Amino acid sequence: MNPTSLNTPLRLREVELRNRLGLPAMSTYQADPEHRPTAGWHLPHYLTRSIGMGLVIVEATAVAAEALATPHDLGLWNARQARALATVAEVISAQGAVAGLQLSHAGRKASRSRPFGRTPDAPLTETEGGWQPLGPSALPFADGYRPPQPMSPGQIDRAVGQFAGAAGHAAAAGFRFLELHAGHGRLLHSFLSPLSNQRTDGYGGDFTGRTRLLRETVRAVRTTWPRELPLAVRLSARDFIPGGWSLEDSVRLAPLLAADGADLIDCTSGGIARPEPRPTGPAWQAPFARAIRQSGVPTAAVGKITNLSEAGRLLSCGDCDLVLMGRALLVDPMLPARHTPDLAPPSYQRALATTTVLADGHLPPEL
Ligand SMILES: Cc1cc2nc3c(=O)[nH]c(=O)nc-3n(C[C@H](O)[C@H](O)[C@H](O)COP(=O)(O)O)c2cc1C
Repeated sequence: MNPTSLNTPLRLREVELRNRLGLPAMSTYQADPEHRPTAGWHLPHYLTRSIGMGLVIVEATAVAAEALATPHDLGLWNARQARALATVAEVISAQGAVAGLQLSHAGRKASRSRPFGRTPDAPLTETEGGWQPLGPSALPFADGYRPPQPMSPGQIDRAVGQFAGAAGHAAAAGFRFLELHAGHGRLLHSFLSPLSNQRTDGYGGDFTGRTRLLRETVRAVRTTWPRELPLAVRLSARDFIPGGWSLEDSVRLAPLLAADGADLIDCTSGGIARPEPRPTGPAWQAPFARAIRQSGVPTAAVGKITNLSEAGRLLSCGDCDLVLMGRALLVDPMLPARHTPDLAPPSYQRALATTTVLADGHLPPEL
């Protein structure tokens, strides 16, 4: 059998991605006051990022008002928001990419300012419109952050229901791939990690207790998200603080999530608390995708993958089933179409055939 390449289609349930390249969820913090996407920003942003792509995952979208990370996030808890998001799904699908959406509950990282503006990425006070974050235990994310309110069993049930409700809206909006954000210290990750979860009830303690919320959420989402459509879980494959969630925990959890109804694990890492020592380097998280994939569950690799030859190499050596490129595609959305001109919209094909853009971004002098 030929090794998997970037242009090999990927089938997940009844959905086929035309190639193995995806845009990971990347928050843009530009939603309108009702947490809906806008025609002036989100439509052109996602349209251009869909050119030549197999999959585009729309940024972290809150499942409830209390689940927002910042007041500028997208949300999906009512039909008006679903109708607005349907226009985003439509522009992505119109380019031939599969339209995906990431659902998120910010948990103890809720109630922050966006990472640009007057006070970037700072906890919001009540006078600034802040709200009470929720979490497993009253342990703040970092100095200066409000301790989360430890969630009661009723609040936990409500959060599970909010994910399921948002998944139903996502299907109605025309998305064909759904991802649950269980990384970067958000609610679902904060229940997994012993650093943030010190509960003594059935949602804490050992591996089974700490994974219970995520597993219940996957099963609940499967009741509202269509059976024929794929569901991914973004895991922080490991924490980088001693005593935290480990890669071995992720390898153990992946097949359980698959049995609950997940089809792919998107392998990011870290983000449980600050400060946190984080390694970095080219494709530095791909070994996590490889280790988790060896448990038999398909994975996506992400993180500092900046060119298509590196992406192809990760696929052909079996590190992952899908490559996600974030910052590189924010900067250069034409990257996939320049690699495979057939994937470019017909209106651009003549330009691609007759124009060479030099590596430094300049046109050659003869043009
Ligand atoms: C501006 C920005 C916004 C991001 N927003 C999200 C998000 O909404 N959800 C998420 O899971 N990760 C988010 N991430 C992380 C990315 O999905 C990705 O994992 C990370 O940027 C590493 O990939 P890259 O090196 O290809 O950019 C964000 C990263 C950046 C730089």
